Amino acid sequence: MILAIETSCDDTCAAVVSGDGEILANVISSQEIHARFGGVVPEIASRQHLTLLPFVLKQALADAQITLDEVTLVAATQGPGLVASLLVGFNAAKAIAAARRLPLAAVDHLQGHLAASRLAPDPFEPPYLGLVVSGGHTLLALVDGPGLEYRLLGQTLDDAAGEAFDKGARLLGLGYPGGAALEQLAVSGDPEAFELPIGARMGGLNFSFAGLKTALLYKVRDLGEVEAERRRADLAASYQAAIVNALMLRVKRALRQTGARRLAVGGGVAANGALRRALSAADVKLDLPPRELCTDNAAMVASAARYIEPIRYPEFLSFDVYATGVRQAS
Ligand code: KG4
Ligand code: ZN
Repeated sequence: MILAIETSCDDTCAAVVSGDGEILANVISSQEIHARFGGVVPEIASRQHLTLLPFVLKQALADAQITLDEVTLVAATQGPGLVASLLVGFNAAKAIAAARRLPLAAVDHLQGHLAASRLAPDPFEPPYLGLVVSGGHTLLALVDGPGLEYRLLGQTLDDAAGEAFDKGARLLGLGYPGGAALEQLAVSGDPEAFELPIGARMGGLNFSFAGLKTALLYKVRDLGEVEAERRRADLAASYQAAIVNALMLRVKRALRQTGARRLAVGGGVAANGALRRALSAADVKLDLPPRELCTDNAAMVASAARYIEPIRYPEFLSFDVYATGVRQAS
């Protein structure tokens, strides 16, 4: 049994997964407190992880109906993410592993997202194209195995897709995080009402969303307060369509370039209905996991742990977390 912990941002997560990828428990405790600050406050996130993690761990073991005696491997996200948040989960994992002389799997968060599709009951086998679209990351990778090795094909040069949703939502007077609220507002709007840039002339597979956010800001300014308010739904629908089109343009390019037949999607933005519809219409075998496996979770971390070399006690005691960077598998 694998006991996994994920605390890279503001979700406190623990999961129990069997060696063949069956999820026995997947507990996610989201920290609502950040909404009032309009973004994640790292210091608060870290303190909340400290408070919540013991309960989340206990709940995961209870849900899985196991005790620590049955755990054979401990896993935790090592990076990238907020250092103070990562430290809580990674050190808790080290402590459990050290006390029980168990091996520790230090998991890269992005490999985690790409490994969510490898869980039972219908696991993806490489090669497959992976799209990760969250508040912190936007990337396309070719997972060409046999393990979790991947080739990074493209990533965002500025904002992540979720960040673009959140910034657009803020401009339209919605709360944080604003992706879901913007989607809701867009339901009654016309996605073709306003033309917004999707970086179509930018070749290759990298993404850029900073210009889109600025374009929305200017549209809102040009319309004036009253008219912008009246056309909020049209603005939201057009903005959402631009993000979805920008993502789909690169996904289709990547499918053409790599010849990949399968696409696995992860990250909070994968909850977006417009994106899900566009992906479902593409000519590819698709794995769109349920929401709790798309957003940050520890089941994906346990899944990734199955494919990497665990570190034995006491070597892992000197391992540290890392904040940034997309680590390519060696
Ligand atoms: O993966 P996630 O839960 O956390 C990380 O960033 O790692 O992703 C959160 C992001 C936020 O930016 C949020 O606005 C966005 O996912 N999001 C959505 C939707 N639900 C969440 N974006 C668009 N439409 C949604 N329905
Ligand atoms: Zn994530």
